[in-house]
Amino acid sequence: MLEKIDSLISEVEIFNADTAEQLEEFRLRFLSKKGHLAAIFAEMKQVLPEDRKSFGQKVNELKNKAEEKIKFFSEKFEFKGDETIHGLDLSLPGEPIQLGSRHPVSIVRNDIVEIFNRLGYVVAEGPEIEDDWHNFTALNFPPEHPARDMQDTFFMDDAIGMALRTHTSSVQVRVMQTTKPPIRIIAPGRVYRNEAISARAHCLFHQVEGLYIDENVSFADLKQTLLYFVKEMFGEKSTIRLRPSYFPFTEPSAEMDVSCNICEGKGCNVCKYTGWLEIMGCGMVDPNVLENCGIDSKKYSGFAFGMGIERIAMMKYTIKDLRLYYENDERFLEQF
Ligand code: DAH
Repeated sequence: MLEKIDSLISEVEIFNADTAEQLEEFRLRFLSKKGHLAAIFAEMKQVLPEDRKSFGQKVNELKNKAEEKIKFFSEKFEFKGDETIHGLDLSLPGEPIQLGSRHPVSIVRNDIVEIFNRLGYVVAEGPEIEDDWHNFTALNFPPEHPARDMQDTFFMDDAIGMALRTHTSSVQVRVMQTTKPPIRIIAPGRVYRNEAISARAHCLFHQVEGLYIDENVSFADLKQTLLYFVKEMFGEKSTIRLRPSYFPFTEPSAEMDVSCNICEGKGCNVCKYTGWLEIMGCGMVDPNVLENCGIDSKKYSGFAFGMGIERIAMMKYTIKDLRLYYENDERFLEQF
């Protein structure tokens, strides 16, 4: 009997609880009505009177040690118990907060703005709901001029005479009306067109407009500025090509192409085997536009350019469908 108690004592001594359940199981095994101690007490009667004293001491030792263990571990688990009481375990690692990222249109807009900032251009802004004069007339699109057909938009009542701007060129007008040359501005912003939505066209997109007005500004300045921009934006190997074009507010006007940086000008399906990608319109500001805005066209000249941000981002990231920009699909957005 004494041997059995000794082996129970050593069992208690090495007991270690990792969980509250293990501790409870230990308590039941030793201290409950059906536990070891109860069984030992039941057997006490059979112990010879002269052995009772030493027997009692052993039993007490076992009881005290078991109780000590329970006290020790229950203090440990009680603390835990409080934390888990509402199903909340503060010791578990937290749920990571997902980090957002910039929209590709914002990334490319910032890149463009930064490049022109280095050349001394400052950002200018204008309203998205624009009047007819700033969006068209001042830019040399007289009422009923066929060039207006290319830029159909969302008009309010004729009596109000306002529309969603079709291009950021309206910002040129606002700046020239209020600023004396020299003027060097870059105007990023949202523009609207009445277009059927497809992979290549949308009723809403973004442009960046540039304007430089000073004495003796020439077409050579325009060309060098745009070449610098393209090399900064697409890499040192990139080159440009200017093709004659028509815009009511510039004379002469040009479309600017950049050498395809996917095939390096050799021809591929992105550049439709031409080696070139069209990225912006540009030209020398028409003297009529300068005069409309109160700038002396005999003294000053300048150039302007305008480009679509989505288009440049499409080239940079080889995005094939314009609609992806506006769908807010995380699987698309998290790639940038
Ligand atoms: N505003 C023109 C468009 O939306 C782009 C453009 C062409 C802007 C020539 C310019 C420019 O400043 O000089 O298609």
